[in-house]
Amino acid sequence: MYCVRNINEDLYWVGVNDHRLTLFENIHPIPKGVSYNSYLLLDKKTVLFDTVDWSVCRQFMENVEHLLDGRPLDYMVINHVEPDHGACITEMLSRYPQVKIISTEKATEMMYQFGYPIDGHTDVLKEGDTRSFGKHTVTFVAAPMVHWPEAMVTFDVTNGVLFSADAFGSFIALDGKLFNDEVNYDRDWIDEARRYYTNIVGKYGPHVQRLLKKASTIDIKTICPLHGLVWRNNLGYFLDKYDKWSSYEPEEKGVMIAYASMYGNTENAAQVLATSLAKKGVTNIELFDVSNTHVSYLISEAFRMSHIVLASVTYNLGIYPVMKNFLMDMKALNVQNRTFGIIGNGTWACKSDELMRNFVENELKNSTVLDPTVTLTSTLNDLKAPDIEALSDSLVQSIQA
Ligand code: FEO
Repeated sequence: MYCVRNINEDLYWVGVNDHRLTLFENIHPIPKGVSYNSYLLLDKKTVLFDTVDWSVCRQFMENVEHLLDGRPLDYMVINHVEPDHGACITEMLSRYPQVKIISTEKATEMMYQFGYPIDGHTDVLKEGDTRSFGKHTVTFVAAPMVHWPEAMVTFDVTNGVLFSADAFGSFIALDGKLFNDEVNYDRDWIDEARRYYTNIVGKYGPHVQRLLKKASTIDIKTICPLHGLVWRNNLGYFLDKYDKWSSYEPEEKGVMIAYASMYGNTENAAQVLATSLAKKGVTNIELFDVSNTHVSYLISEAFRMSHIVLASVTYNLGIYPVMKNFLMDMKALNVQNRTFGIIGNGTWACKSDELMRNFVENELKNSTVLDPTVTLTSTLNDLKAPDIEALSDSLVQSIQA
């Protein structure tokens, strides 16, 4: 049975929800699912904006065929070629052999790379070009590296709808809802939207900033992303989040404590620090065991918080592997402009303190490490307790500055 929703007079959501996929991009857990959004415009000409993942192609085809109701599909606008959006192109070509594919030169090149039989179907555009479909005229804005180099966004100048590709997307399946005002966004969606942005597009902040600058020159009324909710009001809320995330400014003042502990002793130091901070009035404290928390959640939190404490045991004379993975991921995703605290532990040769400090100071842009670095020998004791208190004082002072 088809499952579609109307966005406005002649634009429809024809996407599909996916609760079967456990790992997005085969790496990020998605316990609440994800949607692959595709949009169909029924104008004088019929236009499909992007397709969906191959795993949900059957439902997608049913949606499109229901709305076309026997009409041919005239155009496909391909904003983003990544297979979670482009995998059904071949199937569309076989069902609608006269369809023209409107996309950038780079996207066209990539469609050939993926083996899509697009010969004779291509309509290659440049930024600023327009296409008219009857009542609706659209223009195209290049969005390289948001999230792949071929990406573009499409703006319908007739009614202010922006087809934003991966920008402004989110994890979480829609499950009947479609618009931002149909959910409690702050309660149920923002954390997964942040985790989606930071892990998928987080590395490309400067490119997102460039796109935001271009977007500020057009009168956007509705945002239709490739994953998650359609935004039809309160756009400033989400644009502001994107501005913060893409400029690597902390979203909130607060302390994230990420600890790597083998037998609970480093964990105890993290708990004592958290308790000290709370006693001194810090209200925004989150504690994570890096061994039991997928790194995508840690990254999301690192983008949210102004202060990050890394507490790690030493392992093979290095940083505990799971903590090291978190550090490497922070570097890969360009985490910067943060203030760190360091706690190292080692029973006979503590190295993690010095190694983590060096990593933060040399590998994460514009980030500082507060004094003192706390070095433990096996466990926190009365001798070392003042060091934790001193680190807590430094964190409080820095947050209040
Ligand atoms: Fe959902 Fe970059 O694709």
